Amino acid sequence: MKALILSGGKGTRLYPITYTSAKQLVPVANRPVLFRAIDAIVEAGITDIGIVVGDTAAEIEAAVGDGSAWGATIEYIEQEAPLGLAHAVLISENFLRDDRFVMFLGDNVLEGGIADLVRQFSDSEWNSQIVLTRVPDPQHFGVAELRNGQVVRLIEKPKDPPSDLALVGIYMFDAHIFEAAKSIKPSWRGELEITDAIQYLVDHGYKVFPYVHEGWWIDTGKKKDMLDCNRLLLENMTSQNLGTVDEKSNLSGRVIIERGAKIINSTIRGPAIIGENSRIVDAYVGPYTAIYHDVLVENSEVEHCIVLENSKIVGIGARIEDSLIGRNVEITRSQLRPKAYRMTIGDNSQIGIL
Ligand code: TTP
Repeated sequence: MKALILSGGKGTRLYPITYTSAKQLVPVANRPVLFRAIDAIVEAGITDIGIVVGDTAAEIEAAVGDGSAWGATIEYIEQEAPLGLAHAVLISENFLRDDRFVMFLGDNVLEGGIADLVRQFSDSEWNSQIVLTRVPDPQHFGVAELRNGQVVRLIEKPKDPPSDLALVGIYMFDAHIFEAAKSIKPSWRGELEITDAIQYLVDHGYKVFPYVHEGWWIDTGKKKDMLDCNRLLLENMTSQNLGTVDEKSNLSGRVIIERGAKIINSTIRGPAIIGENSRIVDAYVGPYTAIYHDVLVENSEVEHCIVLENSKIVGIGARIEDSLIGRNVEITRSQLRPKAYRMTIGDNSQIGIL
């Protein structure tokens, strides 16, 4: 089997972070979401991987490389614009050829990986298998209707949902998906929808089976989802200290300190992770926080946050919570007079001031 990861798209729901970089490279619990997708695919025994890329192609290629870090081979497939998930499949036909494949949305994270479902599909004669999960609010998702154990209909955000089984961003196909993707028309939003292509398979007598995933699944398209995913991953990590912690600091709960990180006169209450060469000085880092590499948190309090590389949070009087802080950001207390807030903030930023 092969794998196709979709890492194009616009990422509008994660502005302003995605003005400057790919959302798939935002680290959750200090590992980029896209790396986690590759981990899951390789763990399932697939090493022939194609990645569909868009405007952020150069950044993704620089971060992921040729796949040798995973013992895999990775080919990049350029999509000229985000014209839909089925469009991404169509442009990958030369790479996929007649092989059965798993398609993985590069911003999705699935608890427990995909080894089981890949095994089930590769041992079957089915034309497609779609991953579903039970949700309390199916009207907000793409929902599957099942009959005699097979998928018979997919409905996008149904007012009156036929089941509570929502589509997860992981799909398996054989080469009939190309016939389907070539036959459908763009939707009202101008995209070739994968749900329409799967519905084509069902309507033309191809066998589409469900795989009901137990455990959590997160589409990290928005800040809240990133923070939720970060929390769930941190809850399952084991404490480790590869950095230095001075005797005046106090660590409790699950805390991971990566190589070269320094904790000085600070309290860290886990689950939390402190990235390579970051410094936490006279500070408090609370539960569900991931501080990435080369960050300084000094004389400040941070909790339930993701802080990306090379940022500085210094001398802030109130606790920073529920925040996603980008790269090279500086949040500091100014001594200048007159007393005023002074900011350089990108478009679509959100700031809550006390
Ligand atoms: P989405 O989250 O549906 O779209 P998006 O990334 O453009 O985000 P937003 O809605 O916030 O603007 O895409 C899911 C994944 O698939 C994501 O990793 C991007 C990728 N994708 C492509 O590679 N090509 C496409 O044509 C589309 C629509 C998405």
